[in-house]
Amino acid sequence: MSEAGPETGCPGDLGSLGGVLRKAAGAAFVTAAAFGCGSGDASRPEPQEPATTPDPGIPPEGYTRLAFNESPFGPPPAALPAVEELLNRPYAMDSPATPFLPGINRYPDFLNTLLTKALARRHSLSTRYVVPCCGISELLYMSSQAFLGPGRHLILSEGSFPLPAYYAEQRGREVRKIPLTNGQMADLEAMLDAIGDRTGLVYLANPDNPTGSLVSLADLEQFVAEAYRKNPETVVLIDEAYMEYVLQDPPAEAIRLVFQYPVLVGRTFSKAWGMAGLRAGYVVGNEDLILILNGFLSGYLGGDPGWRMFEGNVNRIAAAAVEASLTEEGFSFVESVREQNALLRTYLADSLVGLGFGPLPSEGNFLLVPVGSDGENLRRWLSSRKILVQAGGPFHPNYRDWIRVSVGTQPELDAFLDALSGYDPSLSHPSCFRVFYHGI
Ligand SMILES: Cc1ncc(COP(=O)(O)O)c(C=O)c1O
Repeated sequence: MSEAGPETGCPGDLGSLGGVLRKAAGAAFVTAAAFGCGSGDASRPEPQEPATTPDPGIPPEGYTRLAFNESPFGPPPAALPAVEELLNRPYAMDSPATPFLPGINRYPDFLNTLLTKALARRHSLSTRYVVPCCGISELLYMSSQAFLGPGRHLILSEGSFPLPAYYAEQRGREVRKIPLTNGQMADLEAMLDAIGDRTGLVYLANPDNPTGSLVSLADLEQFVAEAYRKNPETVVLIDEAYMEYVLQDPPAEAIRLVFQYPVLVGRTFSKAWGMAGLRAGYVVGNEDLILILNGFLSGYLGGDPGWRMFEGNVNRIAAAAVEASLTEEGFSFVESVREQNALLRTYLADSLVGLGFGPLPSEGNFLLVPVGSDGENLRRWLSSRKILVQAGGPFHPNYRDWIRVSVGTQPELDAFLDALSGYDPSLSHPSCFRVFYHGI
């Protein structure tokens, strides 16, 4: 996953960021085996060599972070008091506090029950359709374990968010990468053509990262229906990490498709909800798929229902923050984040056009920008000015001369634009740290 780059000692360079179901009406349950579920054959990554340069992979302090598609607006107002209240809870049962509420010395409730209820309420669903997870990343890991058993393969768009392909390849599974259309959109027809008997999983980020493109709900529904017709055992995983940023009304949310098709929808609190550091997300899917996924959660014991979940995967702090945020006030907060993001995204796009660049239209909190010369060199130049962006190359060689820049605050964007306008592509800018980030 990492590639070595020259280490010149300049401070703070980050390096190149570098699986049905009950069918529609009355059909049979499908078992884990039908999906080619994993059978303990997962290979673990080799431990990385200890780093030799200062904290490689750890974004240094004092940098403008426009490389990770985080939210500069933080979490909804109720999140922090909820975390504080949790942190201040007494540890022992014999404390004078009544009623006794468990603090951070206690495991989360084993099935993340309250969190699951809050999430299900958000979408007016039964809790049987929802599993909380440690961000969509955990969902992607679980899905590769659950639905990419031996001989199964993954289909996704070439150049899209690389984590699903990474998890599949790590387990020796084939990954079929489908080129984008000329308009840099997911080629849904070609993806459907690639589905065969052994297709375990199809991944689609919607909106996509890094392009920012969005597949409409109508196209998505047709795609999922056709995928199901081609192979009813293929699970379509729709990653909606950036859905909260989409302005289109109604948004292209795929959750309603889970009642009819083998679809899993991933959502996260890392983006518009401003809680990337807490690692919280969830998956919505048909209850049969959810049962399968549950077996791959960290802390899951399986077997006797009395011992299903031992530890709980999502930690108490994250659960407290998320539960407190899922209120009308929290939803309005996210709406205002969507509006501010849209304004700033337009500002960034217009300013880039003013500087002679032509960014792709984006529905997310980031823009993919062709820069006319090596994007990695520009990334290095910007990092030498304490501004972190992503180079396009790690996503796909076609994006070698591109960068991806996240929507930050106005001052952050101005700092970026200012540095960009002073860039001279004819000068080479050396990397300082080993390359750990790989196109996130
Ligand atoms: C498309 C996409 N999916 C998932 C993730 C990771 O999300 P989480 O923080 O919920 O693990 C990212 C992070 O950038 C992303 O871009």
